[in-house]
Amino acid sequence: NIQGFIFDLDGVLTDTAEWHYRAWQQLADEEHLPFDRQANEALRGVSRRESLLLIVGSHAYSELELQKMMDRKNRYYVESIQTITDKDVLPGALNLLAEIRQAGIKIAIGSASKNAKTVIEKLGLADHVDAIADGYSVEHPKPAPDLFLYAAHQLGLDPAHCVVVEDAAAGIAAAIAGGMWTIGLGPADRVDSADIVLPNLMGIHLADLQTKLSR
Ligand code: G6P
Ligand code: MG
Repeated sequence: NIQGFIFDLDGVLTDTAEWHYRAWQQLADEEHLPFDRQANEALRGVSRRESLLLIVGSHAYSELELQKMMDRKNRYYVESIQTITDKDVLPGALNLLAEIRQAGIKIAIGSASKNAKTVIEKLGLADHVDAIADGYSVEHPKPAPDLFLYAAHQLGLDPAHCVVVEDAAAGIAAAIAGGMWTIGLGPADRVDSADIVLPNLMGIHLADLQTKLSR
């Protein structure tokens, strides 16, 4: 039985995955590095540094140049999230969070982002969750299970009693590696290893998820 839900943030509770993509696109364009929406799929849920390394590929950059590019991308991203409000919580998310809390089930956010706390505050979600694991919490990023294990630990729960909600292949892999249940959001080819695959959280109720996971 499920005792805790761990939600990814970007692309699950809000549409910041799009802002991450646009910031990387701007950086790539300025650096004349090939990049597009298709290439961005591999960056979903992936840490800032790993994302940049995927974009630069075999091009030689010094550590200082990489640092400067990461800072620049983050400036573009931070600028784009300034206008986030509680209206930017994705459809269905708030209702599901309320149902989970009502049922006495714990909730954490597990995001690789160092901007997660800012985004959570702006969305007005801070009071809806019991714990936050973010880009500062652990050393090894998704697909390592560390971030979600940290979140489960923060909730005081056995990972086997937790379900992770993710939009990224790297995130589903991390949750499976951590021995957790998985709900994948988005096209099936991206999250097809999840226990449950849904397009998004619209109209999704806790009872339905519990039924599907107990089969
Ligand atoms: C999340 C997003 C990724 C992003 C990563 C790091 O996992 O899905 O797109 O690269 O966080 O975010 P940050 O805000 O620390 O650069
Ligand atoms: Mg995500």
